[in-house]
Amino acid sequence: MSSTLASAPINLSSAISANAIALAYVGDGEESFIFQGPGTIIQEIEKYFDLNLVDELSFFSPTGKPGEIFEIPVSAPNCATERIYLVSVGDASTQSFRVAATAIARKVRGKKTTVYSACAVKNSDLGAHAISLTMGAYLWSLKSGKPADTPAFLVASNNKEVIDGAYILAQAVTRARNLVHTPSNIKTPQWMASQAQSLTKSTRLKVKVLSGRELQQFGGLRAVGNSSPKPGPRLIELSYTPRSRKSAHAEMPHVVLVGKGITFDTGGISLKRPYELMTAMKSDMAGAAAIFATLTAIEALQPNLRVTALMMCAENAISGTAQRPSDVITHYGGTTVEVINTDAEGRLVLADGLAYADIELNPDYLIDIATLTGSATLGLGRQFAAMYTRDDKLAAQFEKAGTESGDRVWRMPLIDDYKDSLDSDIADFNHDASHAKYSAGSVTAALFLEHFAGQRRWLHLDIAGTGRSEVDAGENPKGGTGYGVRLLTQWIMSL
Ligand code: BES
Ligand code: MN
Ligand code: ZN
Repeated sequence: MSSTLASAPINLSSAISANAIALAYVGDGEESFIFQGPGTIIQEIEKYFDLNLVDELSFFSPTGKPGEIFEIPVSAPNCATERIYLVSVGDASTQSFRVAATAIARKVRGKKTTVYSACAVKNSDLGAHAISLTMGAYLWSLKSGKPADTPAFLVASNNKEVIDGAYILAQAVTRARNLVHTPSNIKTPQWMASQAQSLTKSTRLKVKVLSGRELQQFGGLRAVGNSSPKPGPRLIELSYTPRSRKSAHAEMPHVVLVGKGITFDTGGISLKRPYELMTAMKSDMAGAAAIFATLTAIEALQPNLRVTALMMCAENAISGTAQRPSDVITHYGGTTVEVINTDAEGRLVLADGLAYADIELNPDYLIDIATLTGSATLGLGRQFAAMYTRDDKLAAQFEKAGTESGDRVWRMPLIDDYKDSLDSDIADFNHDASHAKYSAGSVTAALFLEHFAGQRRWLHLDIAGTGRSEVDAGENPKGGTGYGVRLLTQWIMSL
């Protein structure tokens, strides 16, 4: 299902052991282009195949747009290489190295091909390029018959560590995507728990699963999840502590991640409309998938801090045991909430997770990630996640991690003037911000969540837009994107 990724020496013999070689060009400041790569590999390849790459390229009338790609057939005795991909890295920005990688990956996706990429030179570009090679080659299907072949990527670099780190992230993104792609008749909350257990078996991550009566205090998770009584909701708690420095655990920063894990969102009794929107709702556990995959990456990278992930898993079904609009529920910690619209279920399960973290886990950072509101997609489209926090320092850290990792965020305001929309006549809050109409669904959802984070350093990511792609393009397949894995891992590693 997933391609492999490894570093390879910057030399000719390594290049010509691959079925294809990818080389990058940039503008030369004039009207034409030049090839750039690590060491002297470009010249060696030109000499070996008796090619002038700039001449070959000009034959195609290139524009230089990042990701523009051309293919030239080559042959030489005793050499496995059959083609060279010429790919534009536009302005040579890190983002362009990502785009170029996805163009290469799409050429070989589903094929049993080795590609030697000698495009990037700088470490930051190398890592980004390498991850995006894997992301662009991703395929997932339940078609019967022979599974698709997978390409292998060799990235020319002397820095094995950077490529190994990229592979850890690429595998984690793949893991998150696989969970999101799995259809909801398979991925019940119980299935999510068994995946968390089986996929972490060979690691030191601890997994604790709460279900049934153990969830008594989690009124939000129960109200949503009991709409699908078999097998019912699950709280999956994963925790990471580093292998070394056991004695200093108490002084290490503790990051708690909370993820929305709605395995399918019908809207409940307040049935989702228009109905066409519903098929995308198998992706409504993308937040939980992202924090799960992040923990597997963190376990491989072994930073010196503690991380706990709370996957709030439930199905929002329509049934005789579904909650009703007008019900009042009691969240972990005692806050009461009047349920107005059962399709605003995400915040109900997150509220329990945030309150539990605040009350029981003493987090230094409390981060939640959720496919929470259609409004977030209206405002920002599908390339940036909506980020909410009162903490300017934390916001700056996430903006940096977002740009560097490729999972970009845009900070949105927590507008206090809109708080009265969450008033209720009979409970502490109404949860769908219907008391006053401000048409700021993503903002009011964030204001609701903020209450449950107490005084913690809290940050909320609304990934309704970024968690799923409706088109098969660039880094993303149609379906789950794995958004958040790169962002959260990069941010945690920077602490
Ligand atoms: N899962 C949806 C949000 C969503 C919409 C995610 C589109 C991805 C793409 C969420 O549970 C939901 O239904 N939100 C409602 C909230 C409203 C009822 C207050 C929404 O956004 O319409
Ligand atoms: Mn919903
Ligand atoms: Zn939802």
